[in-house]
Amino acid sequence: MKKILVVSGHTDLNDSVANKLILETLKKELPQAEFDFLDKLYPDFKIDVKAEQEKLTKADIIVLQFPVFWYSYPSLMHKWFEDVFVFGFSHGTGKALNGKTLLASLTSGAPEEIYRQNFTINDLLAPLKQTAALCGMKQANFVYTGGVSYALRNEPEKRREIEEKAKLHAQRLIDELNGLS
Ligand SMILES: Cc1cc2nc3c(=O)[nH]c(=O)nc-3n(C[C@H](O)[C@H](O)[C@H](O)COP(=O)(O)O)c2cc1C
Repeated sequence: MKKILVVSGHTDLNDSVANKLILETLKKELPQAEFDFLDKLYPDFKIDVKAEQEKLTKADIIVLQFPVFWYSYPSLMHKWFEDVFVFGFSHGTGKALNGKTLLASLTSGAPEEIYRQNFTINDLLAPLKQTAALCGMKQANFVYTGGVSYALRNEPEKRREIEEKAKLHAQRLIDELNGLS
């Protein structure tokens, strides 16, 4: 059985609907997976580099779960990359991530149609793809859901739609992971 590490990059899961529900569903459905809640572990952005590198080293499949913030991953996930993916560990003389699989699982406030114009979600994931390539990682298909904006969640009907989308997202992600294991 392949070891799955799910890294949550949301900056505050207490203020989340979609990512929180996706992660809760994953926790229930994938009891053997390890979960890394960056907002809980590092509210001060002071990443424990050794601990994070150990978690990555043990994993076969690394899922990055995050909301799109300014067409990228949230600041906390950027900091995690900057501190943990260093020369001698992930690339250069280090080969710790070689052969592992990276899967991006992301949500956006803007609806999916927006990302069929101008820049697509695939375009936004370019830095992640390049990082995976640098580190010799395999890339799984990304799992994406749009139209789950925090601006909609105060309307009960919209909130229910967001929750429905989040459940479907979690199921698609689990199917994708089952295909890899
Ligand atoms: C600081 C910030 C920046 C955001 N930037 C974008 C963006 O660039 N594109 C987009 O479609 N949604 C953007 N959003 C909306 C979030 O992606 C959306 O609220 C999130 O995916 C919902 O997930 P959650 O319920 O887990 O918080 C942004 C939200 C915040 C708070």
